[in-house]
Amino acid sequence: MNFDHLPHPAPTPADKREEALQDPGFGKLFTDHMVVIDYDEDKGGWHKATLGPREAISLDPAAAVLHYAQEIFEGMKAYKQPDDSLALFRPEQNARRFNDSARRMAMPELPEELFLESIRQLVAADRDWVPSDPDGSLYLRPFMFASEAFLGVRPAKQYKYILIASPVGPYFKGGAKPVKIWVSRNYTRAAPGGTGAAKTGGNYAASLVPQAEGIEHGCDQVVFLDAVEKKWIEELGGMNLFFVFDDGTVITPPLTGTILPGITRDSLIQLLREEGLQVREEPYSIDQWRADATTGKLLETMACGTAAVVTPVGTVLGPDGEFTIGSGGTGQMTNKVRDKLVGLQKGRVEDSHGWTMKL
Ligand code: PLP
Ligand code: COI
Repeated sequence: MNFDHLPHPAPTPADKREEALQDPGFGKLFTDHMVVIDYDEDKGGWHKATLGPREAISLDPAAAVLHYAQEIFEGMKAYKQPDDSLALFRPEQNARRFNDSARRMAMPELPEELFLESIRQLVAADRDWVPSDPDGSLYLRPFMFASEAFLGVRPAKQYKYILIASPVGPYFKGGAKPVKIWVSRNYTRAAPGGTGAAKTGGNYAASLVPQAEGIEHGCDQVVFLDAVEKKWIEELGGMNLFFVFDDGTVITPPLTGTILPGITRDSLIQLLREEGLQVREEPYSIDQWRADATTGKLLETMACGTAAVVTPVGTVLGPDGEFTIGSGGTGQMTNKVRDKLVGLQKGRVEDSHGWTMKL
């Protein structure tokens, strides 16, 4: 599909852009352009692609997404390489997961090549917006929603796919410092058969109250337990978890349909195995977590995701009080795999997996 390039009447002046890039924060600064692709069942599906100025969109108040939340998104980053070129990390995995989410939400799939082309187009237009700070990157947010004006409950016939980009620094204010986790007892994130494995807005909306509860208790993130037994550790609001033990084994919760199959998670499983650790995808309970942290059997806990990269969990605040993981600092293995992962993403480590895609 050809992308129509719309002129930009007033791109951000270079000095303003450079000033904004000094302290991008996370998700509050946006680039000049966006991609929009329209879908209409009656017009043969995906039919119109544009790269144009990033601007407000107009929506009919009856647009299905505003009522029934038919919406999905992805999160990925473009990383500056040592030679100043840019690269993506496993973007085909994001394209695939986008379509997995689309199927779960009864939405049309977007051809993987079109997804990837939209990213090439936007990054080419906004490449000056990639922070040069070593901790910075260009966060890419592809999303799709039901735009059809119709109030009956059925899959919409019209959708919009939009891609925007946001220059970012670290997700957590403390950078890679250990975070404190709140164990949510009153709320769960996803139940078996629900939408937990899809990257759809409703999962995040449902996490806001427990997240606020965690913040009230001085924590940075919430860990959700399974909805049935309220016992098994699932994931954080936006990150997967790994538990590192003193006998060289590692546990990460299995993909049972209630957690997001993280691309960082999959990458870490491989990187940890390459470090000689035995990684098992199996259930791990909140009580065991506390017991293993207390006896010292558990050395480290790490949270991982595109936005948070690899972040150590230092302290956990549960219903039975607080416990500390290791010394409460950043564990050795957390540092090691974080360096390896970031090295691969930033082109400083030889990519023997074929994970990076040069732009
Ligand atoms: N779990 C949730 C709920 C997320 O939102 C994310 C972030 O995308 C992840 C896990 C980590 O996924 P990934 O490593 O693909 O970014
Ligand atoms: C990501 O890591 O890309 C996420 O989606 C996490 C959060 C920003 C929702």
